[in-house]
This record gives sequence, structure tokens and C-alpha cells, in this order.
Amino acid sequence: MTSEIDVTECTRCETLCGSRSRIVNGVGPDDAELLFVGEAPGRKEDEGGEPFVGRSGDVLDSALRDQGLARSDVRITNCVRCRPPENRDPTAEELANCRGYLEREIDAVDPTVLVALGKVPSEHLLGRSVGVTAEAGSVDETRIAGTVRRVVVCVHPAATLYDPGQREPFTEAIGAAVGLVDGGGDQSRLGEF
Ligand code: URA
Repeated sequence: MTSEIDVTECTRCETLCGSRSRIVNGVGPDDAELLFVGEAPGRKEDEGGEPFVGRSGDVLDSALRDQGLARSDVRITNCVRCRPPENRDPTAEELANCRGYLEREIDAVDPTVLVALGKVPSEHLLGRSVGVTAEAGSVDETRIAGTVRRVVVCVHPAATLYDPGQREPFTEAIGAAVGLVDGGGDQSRLGEF
């Protein structure tokens, strides 16, 4: 089914077509209970073709391990699939151009919980302004492509590298999200999903 979710060709954003090396699709089980949604690929992701493989990915992997989960237990994707120049935030137009691909992925995976990693994905998924640090770990319900979805707001992993004060809200939000799918992050149970 992954091939149906993946985007193999896209020329909707002229700038991103020029800045990307490749389209970076989501990774992980196509029936994952947890779907992590980041902003857009960075340099390492653009090189490797996989979301969150740079330093932010190390932070995310480590937080998952602390919850008894491996990266391969969850699905990880981005709001925008192509690297913006200089790692700038994706524009509203770029987010809109890529929205259908994200909705198709959410629809196909049908996760129990979406985890929005940072301000851009939180606001993109929830359709309102979000104070990420204040709201980290909160669970919101929102309609995405016709279906009500649970979204946990989470600090972006990179923020924990620049601001140690963000580590606790980040860790707590990951814990809250994992708690929603298995009541505690027991890896042996999640393996059944
Ligand atoms: N930051 C993101 O938001 N997404 C990635 O894939 C990597 C870093």
C-alpha cells in the first residue's frame, strides 16, 4: 500500500523543485497507530530520502526508545515533502500544494493519533494558531479530509537541541501520545499493531 501513499513525481512548487534533490515520503508501517508529522525535509533528509534522519531524528528516536518503541514501530512524515531552500519554513502555498498528499497518507494509514512536531505542523493540522510549548502534550480533535482525528501537539525535536527547557515538554508530549495508543508504551503490545 505504501506505493499508493508515496509521491513519485510533483512539480507543483517551482521553488521547491529547484531546491530539492528528491521527494521525501513518509516512512514506517502503513497501518501505524502513531503518525508523526514534521515540517519539511532538511539537508540530511533531502540527501537520504527519509524524514528525520538528522540530529532532530536522533532526538526523536531516543524519545521513542525511552517509551519502549523503535522508529520502525511508528510512521513519520512531513507537511511538505521537498526541502525548502536554506531550511526556511514552507510557505502557505507550499503547505497547500502538499496538503492533498498528507491527507492521502493520513487516510490510508488511519492512525489512532497524529503527533504534530512543532508549530508549523500543529497549526497546519489544527487550522488555528498554536502556542507549542504551552500546549505540548495536549490532545485536540480536528477534522482532516472528512474524518475526526486526534492530534497531540509536540515541541519540535530540534527545539530541544537549542533550548534545554524544551526537553521536558517534548518528552511529556511524546509520552502522552504513546499513552493514547497503548496505555503505556509497552513495545511487545505495540508490535501487534
Ligand atoms: N525537521 C522536520 O520537520 N522534518 C524532517 O524531516 C527533518 C527535520
